[in-house]
Amino acid sequence: MITEKDKKSALLEFIDNYREKDNFESYLIAVLHRVQEVNGYVDEASMDLIAHAMGIPTARIYGVATFYHFFNLKPVGKYIISVCMGTACFVKGANAIADKIKEILNIETGETTKDGLFTLQEARCLGACGQAPVLMINNKIHGRMTPKKTADMIKKIKRNALKQKVQGQR
Ligand code: FES
Repeated sequence: MITEKDKKSALLEFIDNYREKDNFESYLIAVLHRVQEVNGYVDEASMDLIAHAMGIPTARIYGVATFYHFFNLKPVGKYIISVCMGTACFVKGANAIADKIKEILNIETGETTKDGLFTLQEARCLGACGQAPVLMINNKIHGRMTPKKTADMIKKIKRNALKQKVQGQR
């Protein structure tokens, strides 16, 4: 089992390995990505640790983490649904897809369901405009979406999650 202490030492080791890089901001972004990869989000304790290890104010780290939309500053669900709100997707009905998700999951953009299964986010162009409207679930792009296809996909994920939970209890 990975303890908080293990996570802390792994992060400090990661910071040390990147220390020689000249571009300070990309170095900091790489470190923040690492935190998010391990924790699922960038937590305050990690920001303080990075600040101490890199000798920079926590406020600066917070500034970078909030500037880039891909960093989560709150715990997120097992499935992160990002609905593309870029122009191509928007004109092809991204709003109706986002509304459907909000209705089914009973959350707003930026929120996580109570069971910790889903987080809803909005994204700018996901680079797949030819397949608009597009959404991404945990880094996998799904194109030519409709509210109905989205609802079916969520239903399937919920069913599988329930199945896994039941199997885990046996
Ligand atoms: S606008 Fe949605 S993928 Fe480009």
